[in-house]
Amino acid sequence: MSTNRLFKSKVGLIAATVGSAVGLGNIWRFPAETQANGGAAFLLLYICCIFMLGISVMLAEFSLGRGGRSDSVTVFNKLSPGKSWWLVGAAGILASCLIACFYMVVEGWTLQYFWNSLTGDLYAGADLSNSAAADEFFTGKMTDYIFSPLQPVIFTALVILINLGVLMGGVQKGIERLSNVLMPVLFVVLVVLCCVTLSLPGASAGVEWFLSPDFSKITPMTVVNALGQCFFSLSLGMGILITYGAYYPSDTRLTRTSVIVACMTLLVALLVGFVIFPAVASFGLSDHSLRGVTLVFQTLPEVFARIPGTQLWSILFFFLLFAAALTSTVSSTEVIIAFLQDKFGMSRLKACCVALLPLLPCSALCSLSFSSLRGFTIFGLNLFDFLDTVSTNIMLPLVAIGVCVYIGWFAPRGLLKSQLSNEGTIRSRITGFVIFVVRYLAPVLIATILITNFI
Ligand code: PHE
Repeated sequence: MSTNRLFKSKVGLIAATVGSAVGLGNIWRFPAETQANGGAAFLLLYICCIFMLGISVMLAEFSLGRGGRSDSVTVFNKLSPGKSWWLVGAAGILASCLIACFYMVVEGWTLQYFWNSLTGDLYAGADLSNSAAADEFFTGKMTDYIFSPLQPVIFTALVILINLGVLMGGVQKGIERLSNVLMPVLFVVLVVLCCVTLSLPGASAGVEWFLSPDFSKITPMTVVNALGQCFFSLSLGMGILITYGAYYPSDTRLTRTSVIVACMTLLVALLVGFVIFPAVASFGLSDHSLRGVTLVFQTLPEVFARIPGTQLWSILFFFLLFAAALTSTVSSTEVIIAFLQDKFGMSRLKACCVALLPLLPCSALCSLSFSSLRGFTIFGLNLFDFLDTVSTNIMLPLVAIGVCVYIGWFAPRGLLKSQLSNEGTIRSRITGFVIFVVRYLAPVLIATILITNFI
C-alpha cells in the first residue's frame, strides 16, 4: 500500500477514527435509546458494553486491517488465501453501501436544517403562544423539509457531491484534513451548547434523570439495545475499522488508539445527553418528543425557538450534526473506495466516482420513502426503514461475529498478539483479555443480539 494511503499523523488518525464513530448514532440514536430504556441504567450498560466488548472487537478489526494492509475483502484473501473468509469482508462492504444509502438522506436533512437556520426560514413566523401551536408549527416545517418529494432529494444529492469532493482528496488530504478541522470544532460546539442548556431554568431535573439509574428498568431487551448502540456508535462490523486499520502506520499503538476513540465517543454521547435532557426537562416537553425523527427535527428547534439567540444555537447545532454525519459517511464510503482500488486497481478518482455516483439514485429513492414512495413497503417497512433494519440489526452483528471468529480461531497464529504489541516491540497489558473476548464472549453475546432482534 502506498505511503500516501497511510494516515500522516497520530492526531489525524485519531480524529478520522473518532470522526467515523461520532455520528448520528451518538447525537440522535443515543438520547432516544437512553430515553426509551430507563435513562442512567441504560447509560451504565452502554459503558460496560464499550469497555467489556467494544474495545476488543475494535482491536480485532484494527489488527486485521493493519495485519493484511488492504481493503476489507482483500485482507482475508491475503491472510487466508483460497478460503471463503473474504465473504465476511464482502458483507461488511455491502453493509456500508446499504448504510450509506439511508444515512446520506439524513445527512441531507441536517444540511437542509442548517441552511434553513442560516436563512432564518426555520423560525420565520413561529407561533410559540402555547405548546400545541409550537408543535404544530415545527411539525409543519418537518413536513415541508423532510416529507416533501423535491427538497430532500436535492440536499441528498448535494451531500453526496460534498462527500465526493472530500474523498477525491485522498486519505491524507481529504479524510484526515477534514477530520482534523471538524472534530475539534464539533467538541467546542457541543460544550458551548451544553453550557447553554444547563443554564436553562429547571435544567437540573433533566440532569438528575440522566444520571440517576433506575435498575428496575433493566430487562434483557435493555441489554440487547445497549449492545446494539455500542456496536453502531463505535462503527463496528461495517468494514470501516478494518479499512482504517490498514491506513495506520506500523508504529501506531492500537490498544491506546482504541481506548482513546472509545472514550471520545462516550464523551460525545454524554455531552449530547447534557444538551438534550436538560433542555427537554426545562420546557416540559413530552417523552414521545424524543423518539426518532422528531427529536432532532422538531423537539430541538422548538427548544431553540424558546431561548434567546435562537438562530445562533440552531445554526451551531445543525452544523454539528452535519459535521458528525459527514465524517461518518466519508468513512463508510472509503470502505467501498479502498475495495475498488485494491481489487480492481482503479485510480482514486475513478473509484470515488464508481462508489458515490450510484448512491445518487439509491439515496434519492430512499429519501422518497417519506413522500411519493410511502406506499412502497418491503416486509411491512418503507425502503428507508428496511435498509436501516437489515444493515444495522442483521448485517453489522453478522460481520462482527465473522471478524471475531476469524481473528480468534482461524487467522494466522499470533496475528492479534503481534499487532497489539507492534511485532513484539511494545507491551499491551490487555492482550489476554482481548483474546478471551474475541474468542468467546463477543461471538456469544453478538449472536444473542442477532437472535433477539429476530424474535
Ligand atoms: N458510528 C457511526 C454513527 O454513530 C456509524 C456510522 C458510520 C454510520 C459510518 C454511517 C456511516 O453514526
